[in-house]
Amino acid sequence: MKQKIHNDSTKNLLSSVVKNAPYGMIAIDNFDQIVLVNDQAVSLLKLDAKPNELNELVIFDQIKHIEQLHLKLNQIVENQYRDFNLEALPFDDKFLNIRGRKIVEGYIVTIEDITRDKEMEMVALNSMLEGQELERTRIAKEIHDGIGPSLSTIRLLLENLSSENNRLDNAKFSGQVSEILDMIDSLTGDIRDISHQLMPKILLDFGIIPALENLVNRINRAERIKIILFHSILSDRFPELIELGLYRICQELINNSVKHSSATEVQVQLIEHPESLILMVEDNGKGFDKTSVMKENPGVGLINVESRTNAFGGNFILDTAISKGVTATIEIPLEK
Ligand SMILES: Nc1ncnc2c1ncn2[C@@H]1O[C@H](COP(=O)(O)OP(=O)(O)OP(=O)(O)O)[C@@H](O)[C@H]1O
Ligand SMILES: [Mg+2]
Repeated sequence: MKQKIHNDSTKNLLSSVVKNAPYGMIAIDNFDQIVLVNDQAVSLLKLDAKPNELNELVIFDQIKHIEQLHLKLNQIVENQYRDFNLEALPFDDKFLNIRGRKIVEGYIVTIEDITRDKEMEMVALNSMLEGQELERTRIAKEIHDGIGPSLSTIRLLLENLSSENNRLDNAKFSGQVSEILDMIDSLTGDIRDISHQLMPKILLDFGIIPALENLVNRINRAERIKIILFHSILSDRFPELIELGLYRICQELINNSVKHSSATEVQVQLIEHPESLILMVEDNGKGFDKTSVMKENPGVGLINVESRTNAFGGNFILDTAISKGVTATIEIPLEK
């Protein structure tokens, strides 16, 4: 008798725990029948009955509308109930983490709504992309305000020198030439400073691969799109400007895939050949029609990729069509 009371109170405690759990929970016995289920599970999985009406019903019949979960549970049964995790499963405008755990009496499935976490990740990703835009504005401003005026002054001095050429004695002439040379030196210093300030520190310190890995990891953390990086780089470092150029090109192409393509995956490959570096960025998204985009909404991103590539004497090929994804190939010659 005592034992019975104990069993009842344990059972009550258990159903109260399940009922009040902060996530959805379904307990299934070894005959695949639902033993316990809470309101949260019913609402998150949009089950077609109240918790008490689901008792003793076979789980598979209740979750047919959630294809991936149905499939997973079927596989689990075939494999004699193994633990499983379905992470960030999109369902009914939500993202759910669904986990299955084997217990002696059967199987426990928990369902957690992680939509809010996902939304926060999207906000983080968007602010990272906005950060890149801000950085571009800063680059433009520093070049405009820093380099532009110095070049104008050098031009003025040279004009002056050429118009006064015949009237100047040698000493004055060399004085003015050395003034111009000083300005050019200081300009070279400014350009170097700006490019170092603008170069991500990891790129400056460790080179292109760690910098790309870092970029890719940051985007992958948001789990919205999967970026896969392959490389066959043997050399330790490449010329600083080539590293920066390739990094910016990669940033722009990945950014385009994230912004425009609806792709699930982007493959980035950087291959070192004896005489050149080849970068390929390929997404499996919706692609686009080059002619109409060029006419209707040309951005500056792809034009910059082209001009950066040309500045290194390289080649840029953009292969895309509607529904065919986008493959961008950039080849940059290396001077050996
Ligand atoms: N990976 C891609 N998938 C689908 N469409 C793309 C992709 N990359 C570019 N596009 C299309 O090409 C257009 C031009 O791209 P581009 O990078 O030049 O400009 P943008 O991204 O619109 O703006 P920004 O000047 O900020 O880069 C985009 O607006 C988009 O329509
Ligand atoms: Mg762009």
